[in-house]
Amino acid sequence: MRVKRKSIGTHYSMCVQPTFIIGTYNENGNPDFAPITWISVTCEGEDYLLVVSMYGTKQTKQNIVRTKQLSVNLVSTDMLELVDYFGSTSGKDRWKNDISYSYTVSEYVHAPLLDSSRWIYECEVSEVVKTGESDTFFCRIKNIQIDEDIKVGDTFEIDLVEFKPVIYSGQYHSIGKNLGKIGDFYKK
Ligand SMILES: Cc1cc2nc3c(=O)[nH]c(=O)nc-3n(C[C@H](O)[C@H](O)[C@H](O)COP(=O)(O)O)c2cc1C
Repeated sequence: MRVKRKSIGTHYSMCVQPTFIIGTYNENGNPDFAPITWISVTCEGEDYLLVVSMYGTKQTKQNIVRTKQLSVNLVSTDMLELVDYFGSTSGKDRWKNDISYSYTVSEYVHAPLLDSSRWIYECEVSEVVKTGESDTFFCRIKNIQIDEDIKVGDTFEIDLVEFKPVIYSGQYHSIGKNLGKIGDFYKK
């Protein structure tokens, strides 16, 4: 099939990204949480590095620059109120505690873990790259915690559907079915 396309300019961001809430500690010890969707991955040797990018002077960014530690909490579809709340308030103004949520202290990094998340990376920053007003943090993964009721196989054997992730591309979406794995569709 050949798709008939049209040009629409350059100011669209159709970046399909899972939604994560970043957890950090403020200087006074209060936790701060903020949704960040500019998240990707790369590797160094055998290790994966999470690539987390933030714009401006948000509290989360200041906390990461100060502590170099963060939690990266996957957002599932039952966490949309939390995302909206954390994303429309700033820890710069005050502690975000207008709605009910709970967190746990990480044993691996100096960062709070969101109790409602089904997949959490506990990370330490190893490098920062600045582009204009954005900072991109390359983060070493010190530990991963997942919902104990969800089974995963090897590195690539993860059924995302079970985690009910919220996908962000300007608006919130959920995902449909697991279509299969590499090699299921093209046979030599
Ligand atoms: C769905 C969603 C995704 C967001 N993604 C990002 C992002 O990738 N990078 C960023 O710098 N800000 C992003 N934000 C904005 C921050 O979450 C927002 O500025 C927040 O208030 C920062 O809180 P803080 O000052 O306590 O860190 C996003 C907001 C929402 C609602």
